[in-house]
Amino acid sequence: MITLKSAHEIDLMRRAGKITAAARALAGDMVKPGVTTHEIDKAVEHFIRSQGAVPSFLNYYGYPASVCISVNDVVIHGIPDNRVLQEGDIVSVDVGAYIGGYHGDCAATFTCGKITPEDQDLIDVTRQSFFEGIKFAKEGCRLQDISAAIQTYVESHGYGIVREYVGHGIGTEMHEAPEVPNFGKSGRGPRLLRGMTIAIEPMVTAGSPSIYQLSDGWTVKTLDGKNAAHYENTILITDGEPEILTAPAI
Ligand code: MF3
Ligand code: CO
Repeated sequence: MITLKSAHEIDLMRRAGKITAAARALAGDMVKPGVTTHEIDKAVEHFIRSQGAVPSFLNYYGYPASVCISVNDVVIHGIPDNRVLQEGDIVSVDVGAYIGGYHGDCAATFTCGKITPEDQDLIDVTRQSFFEGIKFAKEGCRLQDISAAIQTYVESHGYGIVREYVGHGIGTEMHEAPEVPNFGKSGRGPRLLRGMTIAIEPMVTAGSPSIYQLSDGWTVKTLDGKNAAHYENTILITDGEPEILTAPAI
């Protein structure tokens, strides 16, 4: 069942979203050569708690941290540890915060020092694919209009779209109905209605979209070892432009 949020619930989701977006920005500012991913995780957790919120990811199905930090060929769900970020790394940060009974969820890929033009293009296309998708995130469109727009944009740039992980509805639970794939056919899927809140999150690979999971049960890497990028915001469907709840978007 896809829930429709009331005006009051939307206010609560705006609050959760703002904290989540600020946490993403804080993490992004910390992405520098010499910093460990654990240090970023701890600073973000401290920030989220200082806002009276709780990190959504911590202990989610046993996830051991507050942030997913996915470096280079790690696509998603990288677990923060003593890895030291290096000049040239691309660093995907995914974070969620829970306050007032509602979740925010957002992600972006940040650059560590000077990176290659190829990696910058991967990051730019991934981010822009989200904005191509949300052109169809409004009442009256169908869910896969979003999916198809993302897929078309990404694949026209020669990149891969991950199939095994998708975006999702979000609200009192971090993952609610519907699933929001980053691939599909326009005109299919549920009709979008004002009051729906969804997280749209393209996961894009420089090469083949094939992935595998490490034995830690979380870390997802590209099979071909090429880099990947991720971009996500929680949005509200309206009868006009969608509202980005994890604002400001990066
Ligand atoms: N942030 C992911 C998503 O966008 C979920 C993270 S899984 C967790 O749906 F275990 F780290 F929380
Ligand atoms: Co998400």
